[in-house]
Amino acid sequence: MIRDELTGGEGESMDSDVDAIVLVGGKGTRLRPLTETLPKPMLPIAGVPYLTHLLSRIRSAGVRHVIMGTSYKAEVFSEYYGDGSQLGLELEYVVEETPLGTGGAIGNVASLLRGDAALIFNGDILTGCDLTDLLATHRRTGADVSLHLTRVDDPRAFGCVPTEADGRVTAFLEKDPNPVTDQINAGTYVFNRSVIESIPTDRPVSVERETFPGLLESGALVVGHVDATYWRDLGKPSDFVTGSADLVRGIAPSDALPGPVGDALVLAGGTVADSARVTGGSVVDAGCEVAAGAVVDGSVLLPGARVAAGAVVRDSIVGRDAVIGKDSVLADAVIGDGVEIGARVELLHGIRVWPGTVIADGSVRFSADC
Ligand code: GDD
Ligand code: MG
Repeated sequence: MIRDELTGGEGESMDSDVDAIVLVGGKGTRLRPLTETLPKPMLPIAGVPYLTHLLSRIRSAGVRHVIMGTSYKAEVFSEYYGDGSQLGLELEYVVEETPLGTGGAIGNVASLLRGDAALIFNGDILTGCDLTDLLATHRRTGADVSLHLTRVDDPRAFGCVPTEADGRVTAFLEKDPNPVTDQINAGTYVFNRSVIESIPTDRPVSVERETFPGLLESGALVVGHVDATYWRDLGKPSDFVTGSADLVRGIAPSDALPGPVGDALVLAGGTVADSARVTGGSVVDAGCEVAAGAVVDGSVLLPGARVAAGAVVRDSIVGRDAVIGKDSVLADAVIGDGVEIGARVELLHGIRVWPGTVIADGSVRFSADC
């Protein structure tokens, strides 16, 4: 049974006792080659780094003290956000010289905590989960750990988390090929400080494969907070472009969108020719050019990317300063920074092109016609 007798305060008084921990140390391998240049949470999505969207949500929930658990390209975060004061936050950075895993990263920041509980975030989730509600569930139930859970069509790529009717978590099955439920770990947690302090930091620990199962085995109260708000893990290219388009179109919520909600987001310094069409929640970032007759649909053009006349770019990410040649066609493609694609090239079906590559006119196609 959930311990209803243990209650906490509401609103600001509750939130001021809570720190935030953001896990941003992963290598983002599924988004290569974009993550060769920037760590995944710093990739611009809907015009600003993903992390800016998340930090705005944290700030809106009344939490000010945020600790970043960094490892891969650690310096990029502190160079960009500094002490966080521009966002109304107090940011601290902890660097793991050797990655400690998702659990070790949490334990590793224990000495910086100020409150009795912490909100913990995977650094690649777009969601409308109400953080105040999640905290209220945690306080109301007296849980040791509370997990945001969501339902997905295919749970196999996630942590499968069955619960009792009262919300108590009964198992945690990470990336199970035969999931027992469609309810999954949505990557936002509340941990009591005592639990964080108990996680070893002298070796890598997976919160999903070691900490959660261990807590359940020891009889700790782990509670699921299920909701049906927007949710997407941005770890792979198809989700990254869909998440970006959903932000631009207002389907995914954010306080940090740098422009009005609409069918396209053209940032200052980006230009789109009159006869070009930019649709489906596409982003045209600063310094980008979309030439006459080109089509950009459901795609992300990172700063300085250029799409030549007549080219078609669908559901793709085009890296910084990359060039897409005249009448070329891209669909479901990830184009690295500075890539030069000539005219009449056709790149489809999840293709990834690494930075520095030059593809000559008409030299790579999927179809026979040219
Ligand atoms: N500091 C630190 N150190 N952070 C790390 C490390 C590490 O060693 N390893 C991973 N991270 C961070 C990543 O940067 C990311 O923000 C987060 O931890 C989760 O890692 P992912 O690589 O994105 O995991 P996933 O998507 O396969 O699975 C996780 O998220 C799913 C929800 O999207 C798991 O938590 C699943 O259970 C969950 O369902
Ligand atoms: Mg992920």
